[in-house]
Amino acid sequence: MSHSAQRLGVVAESAPGETRVAATPATVPQLVSLGYEVVVESGAGRRSGFTDDAYARAGARIGDREETWSADAVLKVNAPAADEITALREGATLVSLIGPAANADLVDALARRPITVLAMDAVPRVSRAQALDVLSSMANIAGYRAVIEAAHAFGRLFTGQVTAAGKVPPAKVLVAGAGVAGLAAIATAASLGAIVRATDPRPEVAEQVRSLGAEFLDVGVAQESSADGYARQTSRDYDRRAAELYAEQAADVDIVITTALIPGRPAPRLLTSEHVARMRPGSVVVDMAAAQGGNVEGTRPGEAVVTENGVTIIGYTDLAGRLPAQASQLYGTNVVNLMKLLTPGEDGRLVLDFDDVVQRAMTVVRDGEKTWPPPPVPVSAAPAPTPVAADRGTAPSSAGRPPSPPGRRRHLVTAAVAAALFVLTAFSPNALIEHVTVFVLSIVIGYYVIGNVHHALHTPLMSITNAISGIIVVGALLQIGQGGTVVAVLSFVAILLASVNIVGGFAVTRRMLGMFTRS
Ligand code: NAI
Repeated sequence: MSHSAQRLGVVAESAPGETRVAATPATVPQLVSLGYEVVVESGAGRRSGFTDDAYARAGARIGDREETWSADAVLKVNAPAADEITALREGATLVSLIGPAANADLVDALARRPITVLAMDAVPRVSRAQALDVLSSMANIAGYRAVIEAAHAFGRLFTGQVTAAGKVPPAKVLVAGAGVAGLAAIATAASLGAIVRATDPRPEVAEQVRSLGAEFLDVGVAQESSADGYARQTSRDYDRRAAELYAEQAADVDIVITTALIPGRPAPRLLTSEHVARMRPGSVVVDMAAAQGGNVEGTRPGEAVVTENGVTIIGYTDLAGRLPAQASQLYGTNVVNLMKLLTPGEDGRLVLDFDDVVQRAMTVVRDGEKTWPPPPVPVSAAPAPTPVAADRGTAPSSAGRPPSPPGRRRHLVTAAVAAALFVLTAFSPNALIEHVTVFVLSIVIGYYVIGNVHHALHTPLMSITNAISGIIVVGALLQIGQGGTVVAVLSFVAILLASVNIVGGFAVTRRMLGMFTRS
């Protein structure tokens, strides 16, 4: 049975100040290759720097407002205005930001039309859905832009320098909240040469913060780990200790970027007026949560204000849109990835599958029926608690805990080996005792050295052990013809095992290096 391809309408954004567009000349061919006909409203990409011509060359047809709004599926960035909701044709699908949790009236208005609505900002935080997650892709750009805005308002360099005209100290940046936006801000500030510190109630982010070259400031009050990829509300005790930390940091740092967010709640207040008053004149605060009520007292959403003591508080709510071409590109790619999910046959026909948790979670209205809120999606963002001595044996981290039954068995085995070695050495020539001592010490030192190497470095470590394997092979080759059968057999086994290690090491190294080469 043949059918005609469905039409996707890429409409111009009507919200004042919106610079983004839901498809770009780079994403149009991807939508076309899914079998769709793509119509772009004339001028839709202008504020992102994409001309009608560029869209046409990419395979889209340029249409007027009516034509794009009456498409089978309308792709846009912002939630539709009232007159736009009525412009959608019966049976159409709308893909845009909706903010369903905060905009109940909008959801009701949408559900009054016989349409289907997919909220780009309701993507569950599961790894499979990361490719569609616009909140993450926008927060990533916004975190970058927050640092650029701060650098622009800050009257000094970020990087430290020693010049003929004098020494410039590096700027100190504090990032509060190390989620997607926070991590992007940390990476950007660090790459500009600043000294970066960051804090977050989720202990699992400490390692990510450090891996970006920043210092993690621990508030020192344990918080429950989140099960859904998001933070929980912090305890009173935590907030009290955090306030002390902010007071201390405010007097020391030049820039503060706040990104703290707990979904479904107003933004937590992190910096009070007293904290801001402690900052030096010329310092800058960027409050990324301005639209949700602000993390900082005195923030005005959408504005930059200067306090009495000369601190600039930036509350821009359009940080991602201040990089329009980039933001549109990433938003457009998220939309393409959603369309791939919705077009299993790559035949230009949109199919909504409610058995898929991602599609279910994003669907706010289906054929005029309100389907929000969706059933909760379990997400395991927090690393599962590592069982004691999981793969590190009796590594120092398990010290101090009562030995578990397998631990007790291991102690018995260790004791038996030690006793056997003692008996062996007591009745052996001196040379053997010497060798056994070196052997045992090597095992102990090797165990602790390698046991303390970070997991991420195990692969490079493996390739380095090739050198050690090489020494073993040389030693075994020298021994193989020297003694009796036992020595020959042992040498042969040593050569065999070491060779396996060498070949494996090379193979792993090759694979690892392959990950860094462009195909
Ligand atoms: P996220 O959920 O990935 O990160 C939020 C972080 O705040 C989490 O790591 C959480 O643990 C932390 N947090 C929660 N309570 C805290 C507390 N009391 N103290 C310190 N940290 C705390 O969210 P994402 O995507 O990084 O977004 C961050 C903020 O940036 C949101 O408010 C979002 O709306 C905003 N945003 C603003 C934009 C703008 O133009 N201004 C653009 C994009 C995002």
